[in-house]
Amino acid sequence: MLDVVYDWDQLPVPKSLEYFESKWARRDDPHCLSGVWRFHDLLPFARPEKIVTIGEGQTLLHVSDGVGQFIGLDAGQCHLQYEGLNPSGSFKDNGMTAAFTHAHSIGAKRAACASTGNTSASLAIYCGVSKLMRAVIFIGSGKISYGKLSQALDYGALTMQIAGDFDDAMQRVREVTDQLGIYLVNSVNPFRLEGQKTIMFRVLEALRWQVPDWIVVPGGNLGNSSAFGKAFAELKQLGLIDRVPRLAVINASGASTLYQLFERRGLRWNDGAVDQTIIDTYYDELDAADRRASTIASAIEINRPVNLVKCLRALDVCDGVVREVTDQEILDAKAQIGASGLGCEPASAASVAGAKRLRAEGVIAPSDRVVCILTGHQLKDPTATVAYHSTDQDEFNRVLGSHDVHRAEFANRAVAVGNDLDEIVRAINLYS
Ligand code: F0G
Repeated sequence: MLDVVYDWDQLPVPKSLEYFESKWARRDDPHCLSGVWRFHDLLPFARPEKIVTIGEGQTLLHVSDGVGQFIGLDAGQCHLQYEGLNPSGSFKDNGMTAAFTHAHSIGAKRAACASTGNTSASLAIYCGVSKLMRAVIFIGSGKISYGKLSQALDYGALTMQIAGDFDDAMQRVREVTDQLGIYLVNSVNPFRLEGQKTIMFRVLEALRWQVPDWIVVPGGNLGNSSAFGKAFAELKQLGLIDRVPRLAVINASGASTLYQLFERRGLRWNDGAVDQTIIDTYYDELDAADRRASTIASAIEINRPVNLVKCLRALDVCDGVVREVTDQEILDAKAQIGASGLGCEPASAASVAGAKRLRAEGVIAPSDRVVCILTGHQLKDPTATVAYHSTDQDEFNRVLGSHDVHRAEFANRAVAVGNDLDEIVRAINLYS
C-alpha cells in the first residue's frame, strides 16, 4: 500500500482555512466550483492542466433534528453530510476525480476497479463524460443493486460479472490490472484517498472551520475512514486546526472485520508496527469456516478491507472507535433518515445506526456535535427500501428475511384503494 506524502515545506500552504473562502466567488472556474479541487492546495499532487472534473463535491451538511432525536442528541447537534448529491450519486466521485486525474496525467487509456457498485458507477461516469479512458469494472455476480448496475451499463463501462463476491472480484482485478497494465482505481490507489480527504474539508467549511466532536462513517473497504484520518493529521501538522475530531467507523455485523480485529482482538496501529499475525489468523478462521460477508448493506459487504492498516492509523490519529450494527438497525436508521428528508442507501445508514449505539453506550454525549456521513443516494438501492415499506409480507420476507430483518417499525405503508373517488377521499381524510 502506497501513501501520498507531501514535502509541505516546499509548497505554498494556506495560512488559514478561511483562505478557501476566496474560491466561493469564482464558481465560473471549474476548479473552484468543484468541492474537491477548491482544496487543491491540500492535495497538490495534481497538475492543474490535467485535472478532470465533472463538478463533484457540491454536497451539503444538513442539520437534522429528526435524526438527532432518533440518535439521542440535543437539538442542533446532528449533522448529516449528504454525499449522495455527487454526479454519480455517492461519495466515490471525490476520490475518482483525483485518481482519474492521476491516471490521465500518466497517460492511462484503460482504468479498472472491483466494486460493490458505487466505485464502478463513479469510474464509468468519468470515462463516459471525458472519453479519456475505457472503464473495465469487476462486480460480484448478484452482489450489486440495480441502481448501481444500471449506471455502469448505461455509462458504457465494460462490465465483468465474476462468479464470486466483492472480495473475489478485488483479488482478480489486482491480478488482471497487473497482467494487462490497466490503471487500478480501487482505494488501494492512494490518489483516491487524496480526493476523499475533501469530504472533511467541506464539513469544516460548512461549520465555519470549527472542528466537530465526532465523525461517524460506514466502514467497507475503509478508504473513507483512512482518508479522513489523513486529512485531519495533515491539517493539524500544518497548524490549520488545533484539535482533531473523534472518528467512529461502523461495520455491518455481517461484514465486521475491522470491528472484530480492533475492538475484540486489540489490533492497533502501533506506530506502524501492525501485528500482521492477528490479521492473518482472523482471515484463516474466516476461510476455515467458509464465512462470506453478508449484509443488506451491499456496498459494505466486504470481509477483507484493503485499507485496513491505513484505517488503523486513522483510528490512532482520531482516538477512534469501531462498532458493528445489525441489518435491522441499519434499515430502521435508514427509514428515519428518509423520513427526515434526505434519503440514503442502506450502507450509509450504518453511520446513523452506529451513532445511536454509541449514544446509548454513553460514548457520544447528547451535547456532542456529531457528523454522520451519508455516503450514497437513496435511489441507488430501491429494492431494500420498497421491501421495508411494503404491505406485502411475502415481498418483505423475500428481500429482507435472509438478512435477519424481521420488522419495519418505521414503515410508511402505501394505502391501496379502489379506483373510486369517494373511497379515495375517505382514505385521504382518514390518514392525513
Ligand atoms: N457507503 C457506500 C455507499 C459505499 O459504496 C461504500 C463502498 C462504503 C460506504 C464504504 O466505504 O470502502 O471507503 O469504507 N463502496 C465500495 C464500492 C466498496 O465498490 O463502491 P469505504
